[in-house]
Amino acid sequence: MPWKRRASSGRDCTGALNIADLREVARRRVPGFAFEYVEGGAEDEATLRRNREAFSALRFVPQTLIDTSGRSLGTSVFGRPCAAPLAIAPTGLNGMLHPDGDIGLARAAAAFGIPYTLSTLSTTRLEDVAAKAGGRLWMQLYIMKNRAIAEDIMARAAAAGYEALVFTSDANVFGCREWDKRNYARPGKLRGAAILDSMRHPHWLIEVLLRQGIPQFHNIKAFLPPGAASAVGGSTIIPQMFEPTITWADIEWVRRYWPGKLLLKGVLNVDDARRAVEAGCDGIVLTNHGGRQLDHCVAAIEVLGEIAAAVGSRLTIIIDSGFRRGSDIAKALALGAHTVMIGRAALYGLAANGERGVRLALDMLAVELDRVLGQLGCRSVADLRPSLLR
Ligand SMILES: Cc1cc2nc3c(=O)[nH]c(=O)nc-3n(C[C@H](O)[C@H](O)[C@H](O)COP(=O)(O)O)c2cc1C
Repeated sequence: MPWKRRASSGRDCTGALNIADLREVARRRVPGFAFEYVEGGAEDEATLRRNREAFSALRFVPQTLIDTSGRSLGTSVFGRPCAAPLAIAPTGLNGMLHPDGDIGLARAAAAFGIPYTLSTLSTTRLEDVAAKAGGRLWMQLYIMKNRAIAEDIMARAAAAGYEALVFTSDANVFGCREWDKRNYARPGKLRGAAILDSMRHPHWLIEVLLRQGIPQFHNIKAFLPPGAASAVGGSTIIPQMFEPTITWADIEWVRRYWPGKLLLKGVLNVDDARRAVEAGCDGIVLTNHGGRQLDHCVAAIEVLGEIAAAVGSRLTIIIDSGFRRGSDIAKALALGAHTVMIGRAALYGLAANGERGVRLALDMLAVELDRVLGQLGCRSVADLRPSLLR
């Protein structure tokens, strides 16, 4: 299904014209602790800033006098058509932002014609997302010390028809997000100031807390100790459950349980990209986890060209971290990415207006990408190439 600009775009979120505007709507709609959970990066947030600065450092060199009418954003991923070179990235705790949560995100992706990636730490069971949203679903996997959790997720995702497994390898030593730490007095206990601030968001209190109760980590609830299944209780306890010993041998281990496409999310090093090919991965996600893990890390876009040259013809290259504009997406595609994952940009839409807000965010990015293609003298995303960048 080709992407078509909707006439209603822009009406649903109080005049938001771009992702930055949607972010401001989101900031007003949810309590500070929830917004800061989405927004925050690790430590000094040098990586977070770098993710945006790296795009500014790349300039277009457009071509002129080319008929670009009838442009198309269509592409294919794993041999199946996609309306645009986009996918929604896995993010945990989505139910804390809006009651539409994971299902709203997945429905928006399905309506748009792109894949949705559900987090291991989702607030909706993976079976419910498949039943209520449909579309192309990918399952993100965190390996925890209790390996039964990963085995359970893989078996259930395969049974529910998920197309791909996205094995995240960059978070097992958990990043230090100090905004989050400041909002908690101790594990599982929000500070008084954060509770008071929540009271100032009655719409959020009614819609999120009263309608559904404190969001729960439903996917892995059966494996969590009492008190750790809720978003508030678990957010400080779950990081300690991550398995710190994962290695390349775990790709083999995952392969024993997972029959579908396998993506490794957490690659920034060209040697790791080559190793992922040898290990039999179908794709890699170049990412620094949106600046939430290692601080003072390269931006994914800075290593994309080198990695695409080394392995781009042998597996699917997906990139995320910092994408807020169609021009960012065009730059990544020109440098050799096959698809771009959208993290916070989709979450701003969700927090601002649920599923409708996510659709608006995707529309904004598609409108911008389409315009950039035209201005660069490209008829399709396949026309984007490194010579269009300086
Ligand atoms: C609130 C939030 C929660 C996230 N949760 C997960 C997760 O559960 N699993 C995962 O692999 N990545 C997670 N990520 C990282 C995203 O998948 C993605 O790499 C990142 O958001 C991309 O950067 P961007 O937000 O600048 O687009 C999370 C990111 C955010 C912002």
